[in-house]
Amino acid sequence: MITPWEIEGVIDYRRLLEEFGISPFSELLNSISSPHRLMRRGIIFGHRDYWRIIEAMKKREEFAVMSGFMPSGAIHFGHKMTMDEIVWHQKMGGKAFVAIADMEAHLVRGLSYEKTKQIGMDYVKSLIALGLENDAFIYFQSKNDLVKDLAYELSAEVNINEMRAIYGFSGDTPISKAFVSLIQSADILQPQLKRFGGPKAVVVPVGADQDPHLRLTRDLTARMNLFSFERIENGLRVRSRKEEMLREISELVFETKMFEGHVDVFGEVSEIEKAIRELELKLGGFGFIPPSSIYHKFTTGLTGGKMSSSKPESYISLLDEPEVAVKKLKNALTGGRATAEEQKRLGGEPEKCVVFEFYAYHLIENDEELRRIMEDCTSGKMLCGSCKKFASELLIEFLKEHKEKRDEAEGKLGDFKLVF
Ligand code: TRP
Ligand code: SF4
Repeated sequence: MITPWEIEGVIDYRRLLEEFGISPFSELLNSISSPHRLMRRGIIFGHRDYWRIIEAMKKREEFAVMSGFMPSGAIHFGHKMTMDEIVWHQKMGGKAFVAIADMEAHLVRGLSYEKTKQIGMDYVKSLIALGLENDAFIYFQSKNDLVKDLAYELSAEVNINEMRAIYGFSGDTPISKAFVSLIQSADILQPQLKRFGGPKAVVVPVGADQDPHLRLTRDLTARMNLFSFERIENGLRVRSRKEEMLREISELVFETKMFEGHVDVFGEVSEIEKAIRELELKLGGFGFIPPSSIYHKFTTGLTGGKMSSSKPESYISLLDEPEVAVKKLKNALTGGRATAEEQKRLGGEPEKCVVFEFYAYHLIENDEELRRIMEDCTSGKMLCGSCKKFASELLIEFLKEHKEKRDEAEGKLGDFKLVF
């Protein structure tokens, strides 16, 4: 079982797709005009309804990207991946929303709000250093009443059995975990509130451990709306939590058929959806569109196994001094063989190599260059020593530049819509 609070064993991504009904990202890759390197390389391996975002990008319709960070420990390259995805979607025309999950860090991890503010600000600076532009909305959960109020409303639509089924809660699970989950659902739905221009496609880039939150949120959209629909042949079947509202549907321009408890509407599905959403907004409903999501692979710990914020040797922080970072990288687990002779003969195994992962996820943008490294590794032409040296140079370069940009970001904070 994968929940936001426990990931056990090695992840089988293919099984994850099948078991939870996440769609493989590869099916959409060709319809994206200039995909991000994490997309091209299959590191973003799955999605839900990402076609909505592709469509919005193509038609230049309004869309948003939203994700959150729990300010509970050092900011590392796992966080950078999500940050890169937010920045990329913003560049592609999305409105960016970033939650600093201080309520979660406080309630679940026991950090003081003083501490979460300090760590959270470090995250914000790195985000800006990585290219986030100032039309983004960045907020600390505890300071955002809109999110807290929405979470409170959402709580009426979920019961304990569902929480049990989705998150594996048991009788002695603290309610704080349910609380935190609903706050996160509110984070995800906030970009669609009237204050932010109403319903729109929203993509949430996350690791697969966050998928339960997305399943819950997607379910909640349907329940919060006045109207919910399912596809039927030639149209949509519409239901409403307020049945008298169904009559309003039959007054739309489409061909409709009234039944006890639902209306069937015939015509072009996206047009019907749009008309119903407009009607819903007119009637005072939310008209939420189920959020889309993309899932990236977990970052491997430097020494193999899971990366853990309680084990500094298992990750490189974006704030590590270059010498410290390089030392960690030099000790990292590679796909190298036991001896140089053996490696020359058999070649290395980049697919098992943390250093190669660093190249692919972060250090090398050019696909051709990455392919060459892979070849030199598998052919035995390159040995791990020189390979690590090269990776270290790139890493130092990145960290130095990041540090400079963070200093610049400090001066730019005032230009951002920042609620803290
Ligand atoms: N729970 C997430 C984590 O532990 C952080 C988070 C908070 C989040 N709100 C969010 C992620 C909204 C995605 C969307 O990392
Ligand atoms: Fe990894 Fe480089 Fe060694 Fe290949 S040569 S196993 S990519 S460190």
